[in-house]
Amino acid sequence: MNIPRRVNIVEVGPRDGLQNEKTVLTPVQRADLAMRLAGCGLRRIEAGSFVAEKMVPQMAGGGEVFARLKNNGAARFSALVPNMRGLEDALRAGVGEVAVFAAASETFSQKNINCSIAESVQRFAQVARAAHANGVAVRGYVSCIAGCPYEGGVKTAAVADLTARLVDIGCGEVSLGDTIGVGTVPVVQKVVAAAAKMVDASQLAVHFHDTHGQALVNIRAALEAGVATVDSAVAGLGGCPFAPGAAGNAATEDVVYMLRGMDVATGVDLQPLVDTAWHVSRLLKRAPASRTARAMAALTHAGTAAT
Ligand code: HMG
Ligand code: MG
Repeated sequence: MNIPRRVNIVEVGPRDGLQNEKTVLTPVQRADLAMRLAGCGLRRIEAGSFVAEKMVPQMAGGGEVFARLKNNGAARFSALVPNMRGLEDALRAGVGEVAVFAAASETFSQKNINCSIAESVQRFAQVARAAHANGVAVRGYVSCIAGCPYEGGVKTAAVADLTARLVDIGCGEVSLGDTIGVGTVPVVQKVVAAAAKMVDASQLAVHFHDTHGQALVNIRAALEAGVATVDSAVAGLGGCPFAPGAAGNAATEDVVYMLRGMDVATGVDLQPLVDTAWHVSRLLKRAPASRTARAMAALTHAGTAAT
């Protein structure tokens, strides 16, 4: 078994986590959340998106969010952009990394970004060229890797081909997204193996929504398959307005707890992360979805099993 000794966590809570919440946080609160997460040792944080306000009002004011993040040296803050307009706004806001987002399902692509998969790749190629010309790194997402909320099954070959296309157009990394959280270990093994035949496994990340409680075990399966970058969201926040019924992302504190137990380094401090999970959950008026945040609040003597 070949688990990496170090895993890079991409914290998506301020973006994926907040984009689907009924309680809308202000840009000041969102920037504060991102800064708290940076203070926990997270080095890659997706802090917002530059998308149409009428589609995702929760992410409005991205420029103001990023303006408040500028002076942090250690963490890299990224933003989701769907088109050139989004990139231009992101560049104006001084964003250092952007993420484009495609889907392996035609219907999801239409519902999410109002264009076909092929059109989206064309758009993203232009975005990636312009981003690189401005010294900005580009990440790609492939959504619906294990299933689509509208079409059901998705072909593994479609996921692998799209992953390769995104790398071809200049994405330095592609995150494989189980948008609705339907994947199980055999599916993850198959999809990651197929994608890793097309691009180097070091260029892959995984992004699991936890709808069926499979996120942690799926992360472990991906690590065993050679992936070393994992997306997660503080407090298990997350969801997509265009993927009805999907639960939040794998919770960052659950991921960190699991990896610490496996002696895998993440550079993240668990206690301040749990405090941050409770902080954002209070703003959203509910308890964190994550087991670790709730357990660490309840247990006064947190031990581990006898050796
Ligand atoms: P469209 O309607 O085809 O775009 O939407 P358009 O070019 O015709 O423009 C329509 C209006 O939007 C215009 O304004 C534009 O100015 C404006 P109006 O004239 O009506 O006042 N507009 C913009 N405004 C701000 N920023 C922009 C922008 N572009 C156009 N960048 C578009 C196409 C892609 C813009 C739209 O469908 C959209 O914004 N979709 C957002 C989708 C989204 O954010 N989804 C959630 C994130 S994806 C996700 O969560 C999955 C992920 O986590 C991975 C996983 O879990 O699998 C990443
Ligand atoms: Mg997501």
